[in-house]
This record gives sequence, C-alpha cells and structure tokens, in this order.
Amino acid sequence: MRLDRQKTSWSRRSIFAAARIAVAALATAGLAMAQPAAQEKPLLAEQVFKNIQALRGITVDDFMQTMGIMAAALQFDCSDCHVDAGTSEVNWAADTPRKIMARRMVNMVATINKTNFGGRQMVTCWTCHRNRDKPLVTPTMDIMYGMPTIVPDDILVQIPGLPSAESILDKYVQASGGAQRLAGLTSIAGKGTSVGFGGFGGGGDVELVAKAPDKRATIIVFKKEIDRGDEIRAYDGRIGWVRTPLNVVGEFQLGGGDLDGARVDAQLSFPGQIKRILTNLRSGPPTTITDLPAPISQASLQQDVTLEQSHTVDVVQGTGPRGLIVTLYFDRQTGLLLRELRYGASPIGRVPTQIDFADYRDVNGIKLPFRITYAWLGGRDSIVLSEIKTNVPVDEAKFGKPAPLKPR
Ligand code: HEC
Ligand code: HEC
Repeated sequence: MRLDRQKTSWSRRSIFAAARIAVAALATAGLAMAQPAAQEKPLLAEQVFKNIQALRGITVDDFMQTMGIMAAALQFDCSDCHVDAGTSEVNWAADTPRKIMARRMVNMVATINKTNFGGRQMVTCWTCHRNRDKPLVTPTMDIMYGMPTIVPDDILVQIPGLPSAESILDKYVQASGGAQRLAGLTSIAGKGTSVGFGGFGGGGDVELVAKAPDKRATIIVFKKEIDRGDEIRAYDGRIGWVRTPLNVVGEFQLGGGDLDGARVDAQLSFPGQIKRILTNLRSGPPTTITDLPAPISQASLQQDVTLEQSHTVDVVQGTGPRGLIVTLYFDRQTGLLLRELRYGASPIGRVPTQIDFADYRDVNGIKLPFRITYAWLGGRDSIVLSEIKTNVPVDEAKFGKPAPLKPR
C-alpha cells in the first residue's frame, strides 16, 4: 500500500518539467486545447493529439492515465519514450523505438486477453513489467525463501464470518455524527494550504467546497509562481473539469474513469448517503494502513511527511458509476474513513487513484477530515485545511467549467 516516494517524486518532477514547456509549445503551435464554451461532450484522444494509433476511442483523461500506467509499469519517465520531454523541444507526437514497442505491446496485451481470457483484462503492462523495462524471466531464491510481500487483489470477495459491509458503513455514519445530523449537512467550505510532495505542488492556497448531494471542487492557487496558474478539479453533479496548468493538456473536460471518480469523491463528501453511493457492497479481510499523512506540525507543513503509525482497518468494496471499483478503508478504532482507493478502466489496465483522509475534527457535531492527500499516477497533492464551515452558501460557478485564466 506504500507509494514509492522516490519514484513518485521523480515522475512528478519530469511531468511538471515537461509540462511547463508543453503548455508554451502548444500555445505557440496554435494547437488549441480551448473547447467551445458550452461543450458537453468530452474530446477523444485522437481529436486532441496528432499521432494516436493504438489507443483510439478513449477520452483525454483516460489517455493521459494510460501514459501514467506505462511510466509506472516500466519505471519510466515521459522522456524515456518521448523525444525531449522535459525540454522546450518536446515532441510528443514523434515516434521513438520505445514508443513503437509500447504500441506493439498495447496490441499484444489486447490479443492475449482476447484469445486466452475471453476478453477479461487479466494481463496488463504491470503483469510482466513490475517496475522494470525488461521483465524478469527466472524466479530468484530470495523470492522462494525470503520474506514474502503480500499484496491484496484489487477485487475483494466477501468472506463469510467478517463484519458485513452494512455494519461497517453504519459504524461510519455513527462515528461521523449520526444519521440525523448528517442529513442536515448541505454544504462544506474549507480553506487551507497545499503541502508539497518532494517540493512540488506545495505552497498553494486551497479552497475546498462541496454541496450535497454530489458537487465538489478543489481549487489550488499558487501565488508565488506567476506562470503556473490555478489547479482546479471541479464536478457539478454531471460534468467534471480538471485544470493542471503544468500538464501536457492544460485543461479538459473529464469523460472517462476520472469523471466517474469525481462523482464518487463528491458524493463521499457527505457521509450520510454512504450506503447509496455504491452497489454490490462487500467487505474484505481487515488490513493495516501505515502510511497516512502525519499530523499537522511545522515540519509537516513544509513537506508531505507520512506517518508511520499503523491503523487496523475494515475494508468495504463496491461498484460506482459505469463499473468503477471503489475500496473504502475504515479505522477499526474510530469507525472513520481513512482511505478511498478507486480504479477506473483503461485499455491497458486499471487506473488507481488514492485519497487519504486524516486529522478528523469536530465541526458543528460532524467529524470532517482536515488533511486530505490525493494521489494519482501523475502526482500527489496534499491538502491541509485550517478551517471548515458547514451549511454556508457556496457559489455554484465554482463547480462548473473553470473561468479563463487571468494574466497576473
Ligand atoms: C513506455 C513508453 C511511453 C511512456 C513512458 C510515455 N508514453 Fe506517451 N505515448 C506512448 C505511445 C506508444 C503513444 C502513442 C499512443 C497511440 O499510438 O495510441 C504516446 C502518445 C503520447 C501523447 C500524444 C502525442 C500526439 O500528439 O500524438 C502524449 C501527449 C503523451 N504520450 C504524453 C506522455 C506523458 C506526459 C508521459 C509521462 C507521464 C508519457 N507520455 C509517457 C508511449 C509512452
Ligand atoms: C507478457 C509479458 C509482457 C506484457 C504484458 C507487456 N510486456 Fe512490454 N516487454 C515484455 C518483454 C519480455 C520485453 C523485453 C523484450 C526484449 O528485450 O526484447 C518488453 C519490452 C518492452 C519495452 C521496451 C523496453 C526497452 O527499453 O527496451 C516497452 C517500451 C514495453 N515493453 C512496453 C510495454 C507496455 C506499455 C505494456 C502494456 C501495454 C507491456 N509492455 C506489456 C513483456 C511484456
């Protein structure tokens, strides 16, 4: 369950470096990512990019996630497959020997799954590569006789004798303030700062707003870095947007797994509806979580430090919109939600996104997390809230398409 710190900060660094330049390059090339104002239909990868052959027919969010899957599976950086990624000369569309090989592998994986597993996605890049460019061929004695590392399956099956999903969710509702109080929770408005991971993404002013039952937005404003722009994730109950100014595609409408994920994230902001968010609920074997964000201190405000304290957790899994798989981890002791791990689908494997919740405090009788860590294949944002208000009016515009960037 541990994020490999080195690896993540690395890929984040290169994505950021590559992206800063890419934004400039796209602007000058006139390859506008601008979309018609009232656009309702998210664009597909081949409508936005120039040289898409193997991964056609998927949305931009899903496409960018497949790049993350490839980088993670081979422990590669964008620049390992793309000419001059990380410099002003970057040419994403140009083919390289590794890019051509990766494309071949996309087709190979699809064929393996089709001919052997009835089209179920049993083999992915990760199945063979596991952090290496060349997969291992032979088992080592260390693997035979060393300490085993146990990694649970993505998909949990209900094991008889465990507390039911229903009872774990009931305990959560109780721990959060009780059904009655939660039913009266209509909006949440938090303010705080973002804490950098390996020096990235830190130092921003954060605004987090949510409106029942299913609207949520996170807005991070980086005041110190003029050229950076705001980072925004918004979902209005139907349409989702993301703006990550230093990324390859500056801003786009969600349409794939990230849209389904945004919906679940928004709904989970309101614990009172927890039983209605997911279907096919089941509880898996309890486990431990040891890598939650540290409690707030001066040191942890400077850096995204993890806390080596273990929590025994009860695990519930269910199905979200369009088959999104969502696993929730509840603290056995307090009953509160510590982690949401969700998997979107992509043509080359599941796309994990993990959101950790910590530092729960009482706000008008309801327990809300003041520390939130959002980790995806392209990076990690850690948010530390200093205040949360409930049931205050929230401007609807915050959940919609981000306003055009103002030059500062
Ligand atoms: C293992 C090799 C590999 C890695 C690592 C990789 N890519 Fe790619 N990338 C590809 C392949 C293959 C394609 C073409 C996909 C197709 O043909 O459908 C592609 C296409 C793209 C495109 C579309 C370019 C165009 O205009 O056609 C972008 C943008 C892109 N990648 C960004 C990234 C970013 C950002 C990263 C780092 C997070 C990354 N890639 C990492 C292999 C890779
Ligand atoms: C069935 C096992 C298997 C799967 C699944 C698999 N690969 Fe590979 N891949 C290999 C092997 C084996 C090699 C080494 C081939 C060689 O050295 O000639 C390789 C090599 C590569 C290379 C070249 C690395 C280099 O630097 O030389 C790339 C890029 C690559 N794979 C990408 C992918 C991607 C992307 C996926 C998922 C879409 C994937 N592979 C899935 C077995 C696999």
